[in-house]
Amino acid sequence: MKVLVTGGAGFIGSHTCLELLKAGHEVSVVDDLRNSHPESLKRVEAISGKSLRFYRFDAADEAQLEEVFAQGEIGCVIHFAGLKAVGESVRLPLEYYANNIGTTLALCRVMKRRGVFRFIFSSSATVYAPGSPMPVAETAPLGCTNPYGWTKLMCERILTDLAASDPRFSVVLLRYFNPIGAHASGRIGEDPAGIPNNLLPFITQTAMGRLRVLQVHGNDYDTPDGTGVRDYIHVTDLARGHLSALDYSLTHTGCEVFNLGTGRGYSVLEIISVFERVNGVKVPYTIGPRRPGDVGTVYADPSKAKDLLGWQAQLGIEEMCRDAWRWQKGNPNGYLSHKGA
Ligand code: UD1
Repeated sequence: MKVLVTGGAGFIGSHTCLELLKAGHEVSVVDDLRNSHPESLKRVEAISGKSLRFYRFDAADEAQLEEVFAQGEIGCVIHFAGLKAVGESVRLPLEYYANNIGTTLALCRVMKRRGVFRFIFSSSATVYAPGSPMPVAETAPLGCTNPYGWTKLMCERILTDLAASDPRFSVVLLRYFNPIGAHASGRIGEDPAGIPNNLLPFITQTAMGRLRVLQVHGNDYDTPDGTGVRDYIHVTDLARGHLSALDYSLTHTGCEVFNLGTGRGYSVLEIISVFERVNGVKVPYTIGPRRPGDVGTVYADPSKAKDLLGWQAQLGIEEMCRDAWRWQKGNPNGYLSHKGA
């Protein structure tokens, strides 16, 4: 099938493009590269031995989307493009609402006009209201603590209402837990701009010596060692989850939501210790205060995805840590490490 992937040059997008190509799909990517690098797509092509089409523009641009759709027979849209930094979203809420909701609306309008009805949306476990019992199932109460999270929840709402209004639509909402790791080749991976916000890129850059010390954000949570517990999932497993969602959309209409997680939580100190052990490196760290907005424990109930999508995570925490390090070591400055950059 011909699949349009917005944000395909980013971390999860590039890994999903690779799995799509490997499965024999045709891939067209729309990405304005504001937060990503075209080298990721070149490497996706090199690893898969297949080519994709790349269009560089903002996915909110309906006129340009129309041109891409006019080139023929798109069967499904997978929508990753979006702003995703929680702290930045608190400072720049209007940018976040305009961008994240604007792209989703533009895609929906063009899809309806062009008769394309399969939509897979990149959502986040951040839509679950703090304080939900763990593991968190799709039926748990929803609510966010920052504009980034609200944009995800609002897009979910828009897509749910769209599917309810037009029975031809098949919408799959995927709520990711904490994606980490990198493709086993070490050639594509996470390449955050500036100082990373998320734990794993901070760990890999500290292990490299690019950052001096990791600050553990609090050790007084109600968890076995006091540090935050999260459901880390290998980005390749996550990417494969999109292929399962695509298969599902072939035989179902309406709107369905799925958690993509492993169902197992690890603390910050456990992650550091696994990372050090499997990679034979040191990660200097200090204990700091809690990060505002963080909660103690989040992990998924992934049983719905197993039952209905036939998907479950295959790769464990050791593979996640090993693959993240292989990518970082081989690309000390991310995609800028490469000569042509
Ligand atoms: C964060 C976002 C979430 C987003 C997700 C994307 C917040 C509050 N939440 O989730 O909305 O969907 O990223 O991947 O930002 N930690 C440290 N030191 C660090 C960085 C993190 O101790 O330098 C800890 C955190 O306190 C947390 C765990 O590591 O316990 C994971 O943090 P992170 O990778 O930022 O993910 P989340 O906070 O779960």
